Amino acid sequence: MENYNEKLNWRYATKKFNPEKSLSQEDVNYLQKSIQLSASSYGLQPYEVFVVTDKETKEKLKEAAWGQSQLTDASHVFIFAGLKKLNEDYIDSYLENISKIREVQVQDLSGLKDMLTSNILGKPEDQQKIWAQKQTYIALGNLLSAAAHLKVDTCPMEGFDAEKFDEILGISGTNLTTAVIATAGYRSDEDQLQHAKKVRKQEEELFHLI
Ligand SMILES: Cc1cc2nc3c(=O)[nH]c(=O)nc-3n(C[C@H](O)[C@H](O)[C@H](O)COP(=O)(O)O)c2cc1C
Repeated sequence: MENYNEKLNWRYATKKFNPEKSLSQEDVNYLQKSIQLSASSYGLQPYEVFVVTDKETKEKLKEAAWGQSQLTDASHVFIFAGLKKLNEDYIDSYLENISKIREVQVQDLSGLKDMLTSNILGKPEDQQKIWAQKQTYIALGNLLSAAAHLKVDTCPMEGFDAEKFDEILGISGTNLTTAVIATAGYRSDEDQLQHAKKVRKQEEELFHLI
């Protein structure tokens, strides 16, 4: 049984997926859970995730991703869409969720509400969008690691036209916009990159031990 870091070493950004192999629903559920359990700033999860298997939609997404074949050959496409801005209603519904799940009174969360209002709604709108998009990358990282745990291959991708993705997903003009995506499936035997050695900074370059 490989340990966690051995699994991360097995993982690589898959360029060529086997179009004949699909993920089981059980594995998809597991991957979705890893996204749902991801940490986010203040727990606000300022994003939604589209999980695409529809062939026609995948074809359109591929065109909007410079023709990268992962979009059509991989079994599933996970699209992380961040909020463009937050508002008081969003914060209130988060507080109601805490109140329901932890069985506390919403009134007792007024300190948290003040903090969220000032720290998040106090940011300029363009900063709110950047902040929300950063949170999607934490979920992306968890998805990649959870997939490696299941021996499911993935490719994280930023090489796409976000405006076109928004159009295809029907979210143009809404408060959501595509931030980052990952395809998931099984590597093709023909993908030579699976045999390439990992290229990473040496530990001395990467870490400062203070
Ligand atoms: C945020 C992000 C965006 C990426 N975008 C693409 C992409 O559009 N197309 C692609 O083939 N690989 C993409 N990659 C994969 C990287 O090139 C790859 O992770 C990197 O070269 C390290 O190799 P490894 O993941 O195989 O170890 C992306 C990776 C990340 C983390």
